Amino acid sequence: MHADNWAQKAKSSGYRSRAVFKLIQIIEKIRHIKNPNLILDIGAAPGGWSHFLASKYPSAEIFAIDILEMEKIRGVKFIQEDLRKIDQIQQLSGLKNKFNLVISDLAPNLTGISSIDEENIFELNLLTLKGAKTFLDSKGVFIVKTFQNSNLKKFRKEMEKNLKIVQTAKPAASKKQSKEIYLYGIN
Ligand SMILES: C[S@@+](CC[C@H](N)C(=O)[O-])C[C@H]1O[C@@H](n2cnc3c(N)ncnc32)[C@H](O)[C@@H]1O
Repeated sequence: MHADNWAQKAKSSGYRSRAVFKLIQIIEKIRHIKNPNLILDIGAAPGGWSHFLASKYPSAEIFAIDILEMEKIRGVKFIQEDLRKIDQIQQLSGLKNKFNLVISDLAPNLTGISSIDEENIFELNLLTLKGAKTFLDSKGVFIVKTFQNSNLKKFRKEMEKNLKIVQTAKPAASKKQSKEIYLYGIN
């Protein structure tokens, strides 16, 4: 399906963004996701993923973080903060090792200078991985967006050092020409 058609389908399905289909397609691939009751959504605005998860898992407690504002979603506790401050967020500090699912669709603002952009992506990817290690329970699943660039192998190695069964996903709803891809692994 063409990218514009995913956008139309999102509208007619009542989803906040086309990005939801990427999450649906990734989750379908991961048999380890059973019925998560505590979920952390990193880089969550405008809220497509959180909104979808709140309806798919109505009894789950969902925390969402973004540096930007996000419209309220029932069942989602939103924290407007830079991911870099994740360690200092009081609401999360008592929930270490408790999350069944940590997801990150975070994407930094691009400068257009590839060396700078690649380093920013790498730094933020490592921070999400650190967040996943801190917050995931013993069989929790981590899904993270990254990009096909010169740091990808290095990041995948870091994933493999920290998690089991690390896999790549390029969901059909992700534009073919986009360099974004998703990695996931189990704690
Ligand atoms: C592609 S969007 C996420 C879309 C979301 N999954 C959805 O379905 O609506 C990426 C988000 O990452 C956020 N972001 C970028 N850098 C961040 C940072 N340092 N800390 C927190 N969020 C950040 C951006 O503000 C943006 O909202």
